[in-house]
Amino acid sequence: MPTVTGAWQGRNFIDGAWRHRQGEVFENINPAHVDDVLGVYPLGSAADVDAGVQAARRAFDSWRRVSRIRRGELFANLANLIRRDTDDLAAVISRENGKVLNEARAEVIEGLHMVEYVFGTARQPTGHIVDSEIASKELFIRRKPRGVVAVITPWNFPFAVPLWMLGPSLLEGNTTVFKPSEETPEIGQRLVRMMEEAGFPAGTVNLVHGMGEEAGDALARHADVDVVAFTGSYEVGAHIRRLAAAADHKTCALEMGSKSAVIVCEDADPALAVNAALLSAFKTTGQRCVSAGRILVHRKQLASFVEPFVAQARALKFADPFIPDSFAGPMVNQSGVDKVLAYNELARSEGARVLLDGGRLLDEPRAGGYFLSPFVYQQEHRSELRTLREEVFGPHVAIIPFDTDGQAIHIYNDTPFGLSMSVVTEDYRRWRLYRDECDYGMGYVNLPCIGAEVHLPFGGVKRSGNGQPSAAALVDSVTHQTAFTVNYDRQIIMAQGMSAKTGADDGNSKH
Ligand code: UN1
Repeated sequence: MPTVTGAWQGRNFIDGAWRHRQGEVFENINPAHVDDVLGVYPLGSAADVDAGVQAARRAFDSWRRVSRIRRGELFANLANLIRRDTDDLAAVISRENGKVLNEARAEVIEGLHMVEYVFGTARQPTGHIVDSEIASKELFIRRKPRGVVAVITPWNFPFAVPLWMLGPSLLEGNTTVFKPSEETPEIGQRLVRMMEEAGFPAGTVNLVHGMGEEAGDALARHADVDVVAFTGSYEVGAHIRRLAAAADHKTCALEMGSKSAVIVCEDADPALAVNAALLSAFKTTGQRCVSAGRILVHRKQLASFVEPFVAQARALKFADPFIPDSFAGPMVNQSGVDKVLAYNELARSEGARVLLDGGRLLDEPRAGGYFLSPFVYQQEHRSELRTLREEVFGPHVAIIPFDTDGQAIHIYNDTPFGLSMSVVTEDYRRWRLYRDECDYGMGYVNLPCIGAEVHLPFGGVKRSGNGQPSAAALVDSVTHQTAFTVNYDRQIIMAQGMSAKTGADDGNSKH
């Protein structure tokens, strides 16, 4: 068992009680200083997951009967707590995830926005009344909660993404079991503590720490889970989808990998293009699911784009997240570092022209963390090049020249993913073409391909998602729509002209 050097103490939260740690634990490491063990957390087992799911199932019975307005009001309480604790929450994120403090704060604000959005929607209409063919009938379209929602979330947005899922799920009357990433357990635990303080009843939010292979799998396959909401890699998402498919009733909302891109058109404003591309490729150390792994540049723009882009990428400061002028922090872990370095090598072996050679930053104190510098290369598009198709999830970006809009659209779509894209152009006809022809869930014009807001749907197509976006759009996954028809006549009149006569008695058939 590791020595507990950090102050943070992990606990599971089940049925309104913080459980004392039993059995095996895992360590929470600060990626900027890997000797800094921030705390230890229980390795949740299938039995812990089962206890969480059972508690959620029991709580569902009463929670779904609480008024929607009241459920919403608990989110107003939560918003106040998030405002109270914003600075502390941001510091927790920076310490365990490594993202710079300004971004960690922006993430807390993004989570707050989701909570405010959920509170605001509590008083909005939730269904429809539509007319019937028969004047004496009334048709209602109403939503009902599905039941128990498993929330399995990544380390790169460890506060906002859980709230994208917990918020709509709970507002609609579902109960939840939340497994935060094992890289960022503390912020998940802080969130659940605040939800307890905000007054969410026992069993509505359960927290189980642990590894994907054990706790995550147990959640995805549990017979009493009705919805699995997942954000993470394609490999894990595909695995979860297969586990969930074993139960007939279970649905999944999956948001997975990407090979997102910024497209710099012939008429683009070069300074704006460089700014958009730098933020897209390197913000959050390239560890957003929407980070750009590709910058498609019109051949006529190469001269004005490449040099400033490379010069500015070289000048970006990748350093401790608490240093105020750090642009981005470290990678989250060693396997993230290894993956980026392997793709840097692969780019070379695929014949890329390396414009900025990235690698480990080994000066002090960065040598003690998972710091990488950016890797930029130019490569002509060929379908078979793995570096142009596969997600790297780090500061590694290809500049791919193109000659026509049609070719750019073909290149953009020539990956297994479809999450996010941005087109830099001054021409409104051009952005419409890209909007309509590219595969994506989030599209941008004259912006980076990162930075979505919570009241939008967030999700992608192809290997980026299963068409069940999260954030505001998660409502569609965590509810089902019901049709409810009421007859005000004293006899039965069927739609479509169907006879209500039975011939057996003269009750209904009199008329
Ligand atoms: C993610 O990359 O996993 O759109 C989430 C954005 C943020 C969320 C990103 N609002 O960049």
